[in-house]
Amino acid sequence: MTPLPRRAALLGAASMMGAATISDHGDLPGGSGLNERAMRGNRFYGAAIDHRILAADRPYMAQVVRECGAVTAEAAFKWGAIRPKPGSFDFEHADKLMAFAARHAMMVRGHTLLWHEDNPAWLVDTLTPANAECLLVAHIRTVAGHCRNRVVHWDVANEVLRPEDGKPFGLRDTLWTRAMGPECLDAAFHACAAADPTALRCLNDYGLDYGWDGDERKREAMLALLARLRARGVPVQALGTQAHLDAAIPALSQAKLARFCADVASLGLKIVITELDVRDNQLPADPAVRDAAVASHARAYLDAMLDSPAVLGVLSWGLSDRRTWLNDALPRDDKLPQRPLPLDDQLRRKPMWQAMVDAFAAAPPRA
Ligand code: XIL
Repeated sequence: MTPLPRRAALLGAASMMGAATISDHGDLPGGSGLNERAMRGNRFYGAAIDHRILAADRPYMAQVVRECGAVTAEAAFKWGAIRPKPGSFDFEHADKLMAFAARHAMMVRGHTLLWHEDNPAWLVDTLTPANAECLLVAHIRTVAGHCRNRVVHWDVANEVLRPEDGKPFGLRDTLWTRAMGPECLDAAFHACAAADPTALRCLNDYGLDYGWDGDERKREAMLALLARLRARGVPVQALGTQAHLDAAIPALSQAKLARFCADVASLGLKIVITELDVRDNQLPADPAVRDAAVASHARAYLDAMLDSPAVLGVLSWGLSDRRTWLNDALPRDDKLPQRPLPLDDQLRRKPMWQAMVDAFAAAPPRA
């Protein structure tokens, strides 16, 4: 068993799990970074790291050490990375990230054990109703068991809702729901709890952010799903809300966000903002215009969310604009790189960084 380093133990006991106040953390490294600002309110800040950056970009990783109290991996914990072949497990990238985190006394979020994307072809080709539960449970037991005492949160299941698919409980039509029905979630959460009883078990999803009908329907479906899981004794403990935001959308409703957080909390669940970024692909080219819009959008979102004592902390999906999945997933028409993260591509702090600092400072401290 690897003991949690002191800083992670402090954070793990307090911010990550939602327990008591941290009274003294003045001696911690990265003193002026986002995590330190978040910790003043008993929250945490972290970022998702791409394994190529971890391997090769030392200046970037120095900023991760400065700014972050938690890390997760863009891909290293997914089936695609860990299960290239059916009979074996490849933990190379996950282990490297966990070793980095241990060296710098950071927490690790594991992302993710059940998802409709990034699955190896052998799994897609061989999954049947007869073998699905066995495959899923064996995978989760092995992966969560391997990471036990090193991963502090698991995104047990990712992006499970898609009400327009017309499946029961608004679930997405995926390889797992086709093979196992809604019970794939029961199996996944129970397997994770059995393999690592101490990691906080999260259900992670996107599209829960805006005031418009689509997001409102998804929030309603999420609340109903979480209530159903809790009523069935499924050991889900937190909602992960991805928060892939769009600076061009005016429909941010702070009242609806506050209401949603209160409803999730009333089910006895915590909330983690797991993948914050603010895309600018519908904004003009001028970096100053984009940076200002991204910052004020992030601030409005965080002000509403951090008002809730259920929100344990925030991770962004990357730390610096040097690398963002958005340039692949949603490229700008003019092909300019997007600027969705707290640091720019030269690793300098941007208005979004300041907006996050201000949001952490303005939020009521968590008890
Ligand atoms: C993305 C990664 O950032 C990419 O590198 C990868 O190719 C695809 O997945 N929501 C999620 C994440 O839950 O797993 C996604 O990560 C981004 C959207």
